Amino acid sequence: MSGANLWQAVVFVPALSVPAFEEAVGEDVLACSSFETAPGGPWSIQMLLPDPVDQDGLETRLARAAASLDLPAPALRLSQVPERDWVTASYQALPPVRAGRFMVHGAHDRSAARRDERGGAIALEVDAGRAFGNGRHETTHGCLLALDHLAKGRRFRHPLDLGCGAGVLALAMARLWRVEVVAADIDPWAVSVARANSRLNRLHPWVRPVLSDGFEDPKLSADAPYDLIMANILARPLQRLAPAIAAHLAPGGRVILSGLLARQDAQVRAAYRAQGLYLAGRRRLGEWLTLELSR
Ligand SMILES: C[S@@+](CC[C@H](N)C(=O)[O-])C[C@H]1O[C@@H](n2cnc3c(N)ncnc32)[C@H](O)[C@@H]1O
Repeated sequence: MSGANLWQAVVFVPALSVPAFEEAVGEDVLACSSFETAPGGPWSIQMLLPDPVDQDGLETRLARAAASLDLPAPALRLSQVPERDWVTASYQALPPVRAGRFMVHGAHDRSAARRDERGGAIALEVDAGRAFGNGRHETTHGCLLALDHLAKGRRFRHPLDLGCGAGVLALAMARLWRVEVVAADIDPWAVSVARANSRLNRLHPWVRPVLSDGFEDPKLSADAPYDLIMANILARPLQRLAPAIAAHLAPGGRVILSGLLARQDAQVRAAYRAQGLYLAGRRRLGEWLTLELSR
């Protein structure tokens, strides 16, 4: 699929109206992400659409949603997605995977990785082995996009990748900030694959793999608080981990959750809201959601 086959649409709306507008555009969109533009300010909803775009239909649905909320219809900004945009690349279904500035590749794509790096990309070589995470799954992809977005505005000093699998997210954070990243997983094999991948990418001085079920290993608590916790697990364990994640988060810290389905959004968010963590961004790729939360 070439870049000319995809369109990006953006609207700015009040925070409380985001779910209604997201639902209004519903099935037409390939991907949809929403972010607050400033604390307490309007949210931006960004949608990715296939060509041809039914602009009139989309505007009508947005206007209807606005009318039902007693709001003015939001102005729709529509633009073609440029060639080699992340989404274009990710829809090609062929390696390597690109997500924002990140490029996740196998050993066979080293020359493409070097080329991309000269253009400013952050290339990560990942041998997934039997551990989850070659960057191709929507849940990991969503995390990399959320991380890329977050890193544009802020530098984190002490992040945690909980449920690190092959370590893609820990590697990404280590490359962004060159700080110690704790990478924990319940699966001993994942921990050893993450360790091998941190060596492969010469990031072993920064990535510290730990075998732990949630925060059970005392090393994880001893190292707390974390200013960024990324957890790409599944909805149920994410709900169960909500109190521990909140307890190990530094004041002003951020949490990125992935591995939940769109229909599990409300139950996961409720578990974190009960811990004083609120939605600051949401990204949907296919059926999967990535949530960004802050205190
Ligand atoms: C969906 S994979 C994500 C891997 C990697 N973070 C990525 O995005 O590619 C989830 C990982 O979480 C781990 N996991 C599941 N429950 C866990 C728990 N309670 N504590 C730590 N890790 C857990 C699994 O072993 C698995 O490696």
